[in-house]
Order: sequence, then C-alpha cells, then structure tokens
Amino acid sequence: MSNEKNTDNPLAPVVIKLSNIIIVLVVLLIALLILFAVFVPAPKAEKKIEIEAPVPDQYGNFSDAAKEKAKEISVASLFWQAPDVSTLEADPKKEEILYGKDLIAHTADYFGPKGKVFLASTNGMNCQNCHLDAGTKVFGNNYSAVASTYPKFRARSGAIENMYKRVNDCFERSLNGKGLDTNSKEMQAIVSYIKWLGKDVAKGTKPEGSGFKDLKFLDRASDPEKGKLVYTSKCQSCHQANGEGVLNGDKTAFTYPPLWGSNSYNDGAGLYRMSNFAKFVKYNMPLGASHDATQLSDEEAWDVAAFVNSQPRPKKDIKKDWPKIEEKPFDHPFGPYKDGFSEKQHKFGPFKPIKEKLDEMKKAKKKV
Ligand code: HEC
Ligand code: HEC
Repeated sequence: MSNEKNTDNPLAPVVIKLSNIIIVLVVLLIALLILFAVFVPAPKAEKKIEIEAPVPDQYGNFSDAAKEKAKEISVASLFWQAPDVSTLEADPKKEEILYGKDLIAHTADYFGPKGKVFLASTNGMNCQNCHLDAGTKVFGNNYSAVASTYPKFRARSGAIENMYKRVNDCFERSLNGKGLDTNSKEMQAIVSYIKWLGKDVAKGTKPEGSGFKDLKFLDRASDPEKGKLVYTSKCQSCHQANGEGVLNGDKTAFTYPPLWGSNSYNDGAGLYRMSNFAKFVKYNMPLGASHDATQLSDEEAWDVAAFVNSQPRPKKDIKKDWPKIEEKPFDHPFGPYKDGFSEKQHKFGPFKPIKEKLDEMKKAKKKV
C-alpha cells in the first residue's frame, strides 16, 4: 500500500524526512531554552537613577517640591545637614538670619540689574547659583565650615581673613562687583545667616559634605575640544550656546546663570580654578545631579571645565594675590611660579606632577 502511495506521490518520503528534522529541531530548541532559563541567572535589574531636573519658575525660583526632592537625595545622615529654619521661631535674630538667607538665594533682587539696595553693583548672579540651596547642599559648595574655620589665614591674600572679607571676595570676584560695607544691614545679615548655618559645627572642624567633593586627577591635560562636545550635549540647553545664560521675564535675575561673557565670574574667582570648576560640576551639574547621583564622568567634568574656562570673561587685577608664589595652588593659571611648571600646565594639567612637586617643596621647607 505504501508503495502504491509512494508511486502516487514521489515527494512523500522527502516530506516525511523534512518534518522529522523539524520536530527534532523544535525539541532541541525547547531543551536549549529550558537549560538557558535554569542555568543562566536573570540579569540584575539595573539600578537606574532617573533625575528629573527641577525647573525654576519665571523668577528663577524652585518650587518646594523640587527642593524637597533635592534634599531627599542628599539626606544620607552621615553628611552635614543645615539647621531647620522652623527652629528660628524663638531666635531673637530670626529676621536678620532670614534676610541673610534671602540675600544669598536672591542676591540679584538686591544688587542685580534692578537691585533694590544697589542698582547693578554686581553681574546679576545669585550667591546661590554656586552655593546651592542657599549654601546648604551636601558637596554643593555649602557654608557648613565657614563659621567654624574663620577667621583664618588664607594664602591667596597672605593675610588673616574674617568672614566679611571672605564674603566680599565673592562679591568682587564671583559676582564681579562691589563689596559691601562691613556695617551695612546686608553684610550683617549674610554673616548672621552663615554663622547660624554652622552653629552646630565644632570650632576648627569641617563636617562631612562641606565644600567640594574630591575628584581624581586625569593622567592627561584636560581638553577644551572634548569639553566643547560635553558642553553642547549636556549644558547648552540651559546655559545657552553663547554661554551667557537666560534672564527671567522681568530681567531682574538669571533663570539660568551665565558661564562666561560679561555677566560671568571674573578670572580671579574660585571657579576659574580648573579643579574647583570640575568638582562643582561633577557633583552638581547638569542641574539635579548630586554627589550620590552624578551624571558626568571624571573626564567629562575636567574637559568641560577646560572648555568653559577658556572662554572670554571679565578680568580682575590680581597682582596682589598669592604674595608668596610658592604657595600658589597647582591650578592657579597665572605665573610666575617656583615649581618650574608652565602657565599652560598650571591651567590645563596634567596636575599630578605639579601637585607632587608642590608637596615635596612644602616638606623640604618644613625640614629646614
Ligand atoms: C560663580 C560662583 C560663585 C558665586 C556666584 C559665589 N561664590 Fe562664594 N565661592 C565660590 C567658590 C568656588 C568658593 C570656594 C573657593 C575656593 O575654595 O578657592 C567660594 C567660597 C565662598 C566662601 C568660603 C567658603 C568656605 O568654606 O571657606 C564664602 C563665605 C562665600 N563663597 C560666600 C559667597 C557669597 C556671600 C556670595 C554672594 C555674594 C558668593 N559666595 C557667590 C563660588 C561662588
Ligand atoms: C537643566 C538646566 C541645566 C543644565 C543642563 C546645566 N545647568 Fe548648570 N546651572 C543651572 C542652574 C539653574 C544653575 C543655578 C543653580 C541655582 O541657582 O540653584 C546652574 C549653575 C551652574 C554653575 C554655577 C553658576 C555659574 O553660572 O557659574 C556652573 C559652573 C554650571 N551650572 C555649569 C554647568 C555645566 C558645565 C553643565 C553641563 C555639564 C551644566 N551646568 C548643565 C542649570 C543647568
């Protein structure tokens, strides 16, 4: 019978063979899938840190919800935390301290392009643009260690500086403007606020999370060309292609502060030093980043620092800075130096050899 059929349809044996092969293949495939499921561990769900950049309102202010979110990120109890404003109720200096806080957060309202205290006596930036969350953010250049460490000797001026001098340093350099009179209501309020922030910090100590978090040196010089690419893709949307930021609708303050140009910090400012810029940006930018949720690689942070600090900005007469040239930091970009390295290397790096040389020089000096 089968013979008959075979003669009826000469293809039948081929079809049977083929379908056998298909069955075997399917069985093999299922076996493989089972093996795979049993022996290959499921990939761990990747922890994705999604940060929604808080968006400021038309006046450049952030909503309470956005601020709460930023706080949550940094509340890892090992770090310094600012005292709670609600505890000020019984404080006789409450009004003054709150005025100081407002001066830090909304500096432009008082000294900016339409300033209430002085008209345009600064570049229009807020202290808070660089001392984030009114100087309270962990590794956001906060003020936790100011009251505890000032007055102190600073090699930049070669003198003992008190808080008034230090505050005016930032007015004259970071805000490229005029300093305040020590006895003015505004200076007194700013210093009261900074003292209140640091009131629980032991004299002479710096709490965990103060100032900037450390960043490893690169083995190479930082590269403005590479930094430009970082800038275009990760900074420009807010700080703009011309680096000049965005003023709010009323033109009273910056919604996005400038990074270069005539309204930016001058070349005597702290951020003009490459290490300060790279550390600030690595742990705080793009907006929403923090020390435990960074968005830039170390290389990107150093390279974008090199790019931004190669753009035009106001100049300051800093001839009197660093009266002892052997105390100039490794990244002070203006000579002369005692360490034998060039201005170019002091500006872009590699910094490690300079730092090592300076440490050696210090040691040798101590031995004498
Ligand atoms: C463009 C950024 C920028 C702005 C704006 C700015 N600062 Fe600063 N400030 C810095 C940097 C950077 C440092 C640290 C510099 C260093 O250590 O070399 C600093 C340091 C300080 C310190 C000392 C901190 C410490 O722990 O020793 C005080 C106080 C201070 N600034 C106050 C102010 C005040 C008040 C304003 C507003 C009038 C202001 N700053 C605006 C960048 C800025
Ligand atoms: C989503 C918008 C946004 C992005 C993107 C962003 N920034 Fe900012 N940046 C801000 C705002 C807003 C501030 C001021 C923060 C404040 O006042 O609380 C700021 C402050 C700064 C400051 C200090 C103030 C100044 O103007 O000198 C620097 C430096 C800075 N950003 C650099 C960068 C760099 C570099 C990048 C890219 C890697 C970047 N930012 C990306 C919004 C942004």
